[in-house]
Amino acid sequence: MFARFRRKRLNPVLRDLLQETHLSVNDFIYPLFARSGTGIKDEVASMPGVYQMSIDEIVKECEDLKKLGIYAIILFGIPDVKDSVGSDALCEHGIIAQTVRAVKAAHPDMFVVTDLCFCEYTDHGHCGVLDPVLETVDNDITLGNLAKQAVVHAKAGADMIAPSGMMDGMITAIREGLDSAGFENLPVMSYSTKFASAYYGPFRDVAESSPSFGDRRSYQMNPANRNEAILESIEDEKEGADILMVKPALAYLDIVRDIKNNTSLPLAVYNVSGEYSMLKMAAKAGVIDYDKVMMETLLGFKRAGADIIITYHAKEAALLLQK
Ligand code: PBG
Ligand code: ZN
Repeated sequence: MFARFRRKRLNPVLRDLLQETHLSVNDFIYPLFARSGTGIKDEVASMPGVYQMSIDEIVKECEDLKKLGIYAIILFGIPDVKDSVGSDALCEHGIIAQTVRAVKAAHPDMFVVTDLCFCEYTDHGHCGVLDPVLETVDNDITLGNLAKQAVVHAKAGADMIAPSGMMDGMITAIREGLDSAGFENLPVMSYSTKFASAYYGPFRDVAESSPSFGDRRSYQMNPANRNEAILESIEDEKEGADILMVKPALAYLDIVRDIKNNTSLPLAVYNVSGEYSMLKMAAKAGVIDYDKVMMETLLGFKRAGADIIITYHAKEAALLLQK
C-alpha cells in the first residue's frame, strides 16, 4: 500500500478545489516615489517599470491602480533639499505631506500608507540624526523626530504609518506621538524585522537614499540571525504595532513563517527592489517565463504566512489575476 497523491492532481477542477493558498489583488500594496515638479515620470534604469513621479503623475497613476483593483499604495518621498536632520520630512509642506494631500483629495478611496524614515531626507543618507561620537544614528533623538514626522503624515491625511528605520522603541514613540495629537485610530505597520540587505540596492537608486558613508548594519539586522528576527517582531507587537513586517521577503521566508507562528498580528512582507529587478533582468535575458515566476514567487509569500505583500509587481500581478 502507498498513497496515491496523483489521484487528486488529475482533474484541473479538483486541483483548484484543493488549492490551499490563494493570491488576490487585495493582498497588494504598491510603492510609489514622489518628487517635486509637474509632468515628471522618470524611469529608473535599475528598476524597469518603476518611476520617480511628480505629484500630478502620482494622482493619475492612482486612477490606473484603481482600475486594476489596487486600492493601497505606500509613498516614498524624494525632497528637493536634504540636510543633516531631514527637515523636509518634518515640514507640513514637505514632499510627502503634499503628495498625501493631493492623493487623498483626488482619491479619498485610496488607502495611503506612508514610509516613515529619514534616509531619503538626510544629506548623509542615514535613517535618523547622527551621533558624532558613534558615527551612526542616535537612537533616542531620532525617536522624537519619528513621532513628529508621523504627526505630519497623519495631519496630511495618511491612512497608515509604516516606520522603516529599525530604531529601538520606535513604535512606542510613534504611537504616543499620534495618540497625543488625536490620531489614536491611525494604524501603524511596523517594518518590525528588517535586515541589512544588499537587495535594497536598486531602491536606493530610485529613492536617492544611499548612505554617504558606512552602511546600515548598526540599526538593520544581521541576515544570519533567526532568534533576534523573531524577538524584533515580538517587541513591536508589545509596543502596540498593528501590523508586522519581514523585509526582504524572498531570502527570508523561514523568518516569515517563524514570525507568523510566534505573533498574533497580521504580517506583511516587502518584496524588495532587488528581488523585483532580478526577475525583470532575467526576463530581459530570456531565461525565465516572467509572469509565471512572478506569480509563483508572490504565492510563495502567502504560503509562508504573509497577509500583505508590498510589491512593485502589483500592477502586473493584478492584470494576470483578472484573467
Ligand atoms: C528606507 C527604506 C528602504 C526600503 C524601504 N524603506 C531602504 C533602506 O533601508 O535602505 C527598501 C525597499 C526596497 O528595496 O524595495 N528605510
Ligand atoms: Zn531609512
